[in-house]
Amino acid sequence: MKILIIGNGGREHAIAESLSKNRKVEQIYISTHNGGATGKIINANLANNSVETIDRFLAETNIDLVIVGPEQFLSEGIIDHIESKGIRAFGPHKSAARLESSKAFAKDFMNKYEIPTAKHYQYDNYDDALAGLSEFGYPVVIKADGLCGGKGVLICQDKDEAIKVLKDIFHNQVFGDQGSEIVMEQFLSGFEASLLCFVSGNKIYPFDTAMDYKKIYEDDLGPNTGGVGCISPNPFWSADLDQQSNQIIRKIEHGLAEENLDFTGILFIGYLVENGKLYVLEFNARFGDPETEVLLPRLNSDLLENILQAIDGKPVVLDFANNVAMTTIIVSEGYPGEYKTGFEIKGLKDVDPQALVYHNGTKNVENKILTNGGRVLSVVAVAEDLESARQTVYQNIKKINFENMSYRKDIGKI
Ligand code: GLY
Repeated sequence: MKILIIGNGGREHAIAESLSKNRKVEQIYISTHNGGATGKIINANLANNSVETIDRFLAETNIDLVIVGPEQFLSEGIIDHIESKGIRAFGPHKSAARLESSKAFAKDFMNKYEIPTAKHYQYDNYDDALAGLSEFGYPVVIKADGLCGGKGVLICQDKDEAIKVLKDIFHNQVFGDQGSEIVMEQFLSGFEASLLCFVSGNKIYPFDTAMDYKKIYEDDLGPNTGGVGCISPNPFWSADLDQQSNQIIRKIEHGLAEENLDFTGILFIGYLVENGKLYVLEFNARFGDPETEVLLPRLNSDLLENILQAIDGKPVVLDFANNVAMTTIIVSEGYPGEYKTGFEIKGLKDVDPQALVYHNGTKNVENKILTNGGRVLSVVAVAEDLESARQTVYQNIKKINFENMSYRKDIGKI
């Protein structure tokens, strides 16, 4: 079997490594470039990842299955497009991907199917949104409706800040069309938990839980990132939360069926736990990054078989090891702001076999691995307990070096 994975980050590298364990898999192509590609994993180096270059590649290479990583492609309907060529594709159709690509659509879904979420209202113009501020205390959360590359959720500490955000969105159109509508939402305080789920014919099969570290600096300070560390299972998860989550999952399944969304793919439920109660903060319609880097190494079942079960609308038989995985992501100094790339990464060959290294943003130039992104490498360890995993991760990070290297030292410190 030949597989094309669209995307080229740590998530896609982890998916590729997992798939490569299946003997039926001959080749796995990463659509653009990942410096970690080796063995069965091959860089297709498709120029700019456009639909035209993907189409040409599909025509020239007998690809049996396409797996889509990033949300942008899903929201634009890449699954519908690939299926129309008679090729199997894993991910939701454009209509179902709206659960991620439109926050207003997701909130309407949550309201209709009584899925617990924060109090919220939707607005499509400045004046109404300004008046709407009186419904909330501070901080208040303002979310652009569409996909904004992780920058569209703003937490405003006071009225002045909220007014500035509303002006930026509606008058200055900082998010373009993606900000033509907003969701204004009550700020909930507590801890977050990521629950990725396979969805097969609208039926949901959850992975184990994970906890993402979103802030760039230790002690959860500084700006938000795409995620710079992750643990699975989430250490704060409980049997009671599991019960609440199962009830929510049944409601989501009911909603998916009622709305005829015919969801196949991954549904990532972003939970927030406030005073022991579970709320859905958001849905993503794809694998999480870095959640995937800690979930897949714990998966005993075969990822390819699970993906094919979902595509065929069959029950997805997942099996997780009873262990702990954690990752710390090495970043380029300056990320999530400006940073430089192109530095040679040394020491990768010295990493112990019990640590895994997924490449988030690297490129291989004449057998030298160079930095090529803000998030550079995910160093992962799986162990019987979190402290052992933590030690393996940090011992091995010390063996890696490049100019402008930075990472949080407190991932997994509970
Ligand atoms: N780690 C959060 C995300 O993938 O969106």
